[in-house]
Amino acid sequence: MKIIAIVSPKGGAGKSTLTANLAVAMVQREMRVLVIDMDPQNAQRLHLGLDASETAGLVREGVHHEAVFDSPFGVAFIPFGAASDDEIEEFRAALAEDPSWLRECIAGLHGEWDVLLIDTPPGANAYVEQSLAAAHRALVVVQPDAASYLTLPSMVQMIEHYAEPRAAFEGYHYLLNQMPQRSKLAHEVRAMLLADASDKMIPLAIHKDAAVAHALANEQPLLEYQPGSMASLDFQYLADWLLETLEA
Ligand SMILES: Nc1ncnc2c1ncn2[C@@H]1O[C@H](COP(=O)(O)OP(=O)(O)OP(=O)(O)O)[C@@H](O)[C@H]1O
Ligand SMILES: [Mg+2]
Repeated sequence: MKIIAIVSPKGGAGKSTLTANLAVAMVQREMRVLVIDMDPQNAQRLHLGLDASETAGLVREGVHHEAVFDSPFGVAFIPFGAASDDEIEEFRAALAEDPSWLRECIAGLHGEWDVLLIDTPPGANAYVEQSLAAAHRALVVVQPDAASYLTLPSMVQMIEHYAEPRAAFEGYHYLLNQMPQRSKLAHEVRAMLLADASDKMIPLAIHKDAAVAHALANEQPLLEYQPGSMASLDFQYLADWLLETLEA
């Protein structure tokens, strides 16, 4: 099972949207996909169609086979779960004490999945550390604006610290998301990223697409809600690119 952490130093880059749609695109390619939500916002469930009244999740139950939900979209899913601020703080403190907790839980999972996608909160925190310490690959989601670009070195430092020392880690890539069709600044950010790290750039970007918000309002991944929309097609290409490079 290949483990991919979806990360970004800045909030709102599109990690959760990307995780859900990539998962669905991979299921459409006959991959068996598990998603774990390591973000206390517990928002991935909105993308993957979990019943709104459901409170179960890894914060209370941990990461194990019995905690897996079958989403209506064919993706297996372990939500973060609903919890009080005190419970979340206790959990975070326990993670900080045991940096390989998630990696060990995943190793003990009984299930036949080809790919595991881990959705994470933004920034530098114990959830991202755990995810990077478990991952084979990391996708760094970047919005094409100055703040996203300027905060990237902090994520690279985390990857260098938590992921790269492990022999199992295969590397990270940048993915531009919410790329406007006409924006000088966005194209300048892309040019700067290419100049800095062309070998790390995924050779496509996900367009900014109003259908993304409509899909979320309907509690469906965009790939289900509007499969022919621009960002849907981008997610499909992304899944093809990833599967090809995972096999390499
Ligand atoms: N390609 C896109 N086109 C248009 N809107 C998008 C796109 N991707 C994400 N969005 C919008 O951007 C916002 C943030 O997306 P999302 O919640 O997926 O980001 P996130 O990185 O998971 O955020 P957080 O850091 O809070 O976890 C949402 O309103 C979402 O609908
Ligand atoms: Mg998110």
